[in-house]
Amino acid sequence: MPSLLNALRGKHLKARLTNPYDEFWDRRLGIETFGYVPKVGADHDPYVQVHYQPTPYGDVWRILRHLRLQPEDVYVDLGSGLGRTVFAAHRLGAGRAIGVDINGALVQQCRQRVTTPAIEFIESPAQHYPHVHTTVLFMFHPFGPGTLSDVLARLDDSLDHRPRRVRVAYMNPVHNDCLRQSRYLHQVEAWPPAYNRWTRSGHYAVTFWESRSELPSHA
Ligand SMILES: C[S@@+](CC[C@H](N)C(=O)[O-])C[C@H]1O[C@@H](n2cnc3c(N)ncnc32)[C@H](O)[C@@H]1O
Repeated sequence: MPSLLNALRGKHLKARLTNPYDEFWDRRLGIETFGYVPKVGADHDPYVQVHYQPTPYGDVWRILRHLRLQPEDVYVDLGSGLGRTVFAAHRLGAGRAIGVDINGALVQQCRQRVTTPAIEFIESPAQHYPHVHTTVLFMFHPFGPGTLSDVLARLDDSLDHRPRRVRVAYMNPVHNDCLRQSRYLHQVEAWPPAYNRWTRSGHYAVTFWESRSELPSHA
């Protein structure tokens, strides 16, 4: 016990002890994703960068299993933080799993844990990511509506050039309205915040979106 306490000391000890399910899965995946990084910008700033806080594993598995990831899927977490959902998506069968985050220090930490070319972490503002191959996009309320609109414009551009099925899971969907502006996406499901017995952190709603295979004729 003292050695475990020593191993945890100074590394988000309280959060790890009070969220044993998250601690278990971090260890199982060989990653360290506990942490908190404050937001950059004011709440009303359309380009605010939301603080880093990981998605509880209970939600990660529930959402990713629902998405039924396949070897041909390219999974992208925009605002990937310490990469929890990226490593999890690879474990659940995504052929490629990519994390994109504006915070270089977080990206560096993730890269130290990568053991396969199927997992990649990119330091970039999400709005610059081109989505050439993305088939599944995950976001845990990472940024303000200005950034999100720019992201969706890039996704629409990529679908103009390479029509394909893209699925989106948006957790804590504060700016759902932006997704409604997409020329391709339509909402297919909405989950209310679910009680999660495995975590003491917040419970969030999730909306699911899918690209239409063709643009509506009036678009
Ligand atoms: C709520 S955390 C989500 C972490 C991770 N997706 C997860 O679910 O465990 C939001 C993350 O978005 C990142 N972020 C904020 N604005 C960004 C931007 N414009 N481009 C890329 N990443 C951004 C932050 O650095 C932070 O790591």
